[in-house]
Amino acid sequence: MIMDKTPVNSTKDKTPTKILEVRNLSFSYAEVPIFENISFDISKGDYFGIIGSNGSGKSTLIKLLLGFLTPQRGEIKINGFDVKDIGDWSIVGYLPQNVTSFNVSFPATVEEIVSMNINSKHGLFRRFKEEQKRRREKVYDVLKIVEMEKYANRLIGNLSGGQQQRVFIARMLVNNPKIIFLDEPTSGIDAKSEEAMYCLLARLNEELGITIIMVTHDIGAIKVHANKIGITGNKNVRIIDPEEITDEVLSDLYGYKINLNLRKHICVNCYNNSNNNMENGRGIK
Ligand SMILES: Nc1ncnc2c1ncn2[C@@H]1O[C@H](COP(=O)(O)OP(=O)(O)O)[C@@H](O)[C@H]1O
Ligand SMILES: [Mg+2]
Repeated sequence: MIMDKTPVNSTKDKTPTKILEVRNLSFSYAEVPIFENISFDISKGDYFGIIGSNGSGKSTLIKLLLGFLTPQRGEIKINGFDVKDIGDWSIVGYLPQNVTSFNVSFPATVEEIVSMNINSKHGLFRRFKEEQKRRREKVYDVLKIVEMEKYANRLIGNLSGGQQQRVFIARMLVNNPKIIFLDEPTSGIDAKSEEAMYCLLARLNEELGITIIMVTHDIGAIKVHANKIGITGNKNVRIIDPEEITDEVLSDLYGYKINLNLRKHICVNCYNNSNNNMENGRGIK
């Protein structure tokens, strides 16, 4: 008999490394099955990229993981808690698909949009002025992270798509989330903003240790930045390493020939003041 020599009280056991656990998940919309018996784990600090053809279930998967949809079978845990029982969602951030399409006259400033999301559980017990000050500081802290502090007083509708997207990233960050879910955050923004978005996400992951779960069609970029890939399709989520994404895998996935060399992603301005080279891998990890 093989004995497990790990001591029962070892510190290794006390720090769960899994932040997301999916077990035997099955889900259908009415009669249409989308997932059948899928299981996978995401560890703390992972950058998980979800790719797959249109209609293969990427957004559905995100909504299941966040408890917006209820699976017919299976279990989903975030940070050790079943999503059905989570009361405090502040450790989780979510950027839905197509969140930014504000009219220029939408009556809210950048500061207000971010401030609205602050989870102020202790607000009632603080003096009003002190609470106001604390909120403003927090808002400016996160706007600085996304380099939008200069725009705090601007109306959200007056900003470009890429800038609006950064404000929504800041909005997610005000509650210090441990894990963030993003559904196609770069769709509809120009190439320069797209690159800035990937640099920002890399920083959140590498420097703040935030776990990232992201749906994207941007294969070149996700191959460089993610450390784990999930491919939706055939009622399954196939988990692979980024290196396993090849022209053949992609052609299979999208049903037409794809040349990865043409989609090569290079972060020109990422970490430009440091020695980290993002071109050939995940930078500082
Ligand atoms: N609320 C819904 N009711 C019924 N079917 C839906 C609903 N939402 C999505 N679907 C269907 O489920 C499939 C997966 O959708 P979705 O998760 O949005 O795909 P993706 O994000 O990969 O494009 C599609 O065939 C879509 O038409
Ligand atoms: Mg979708």
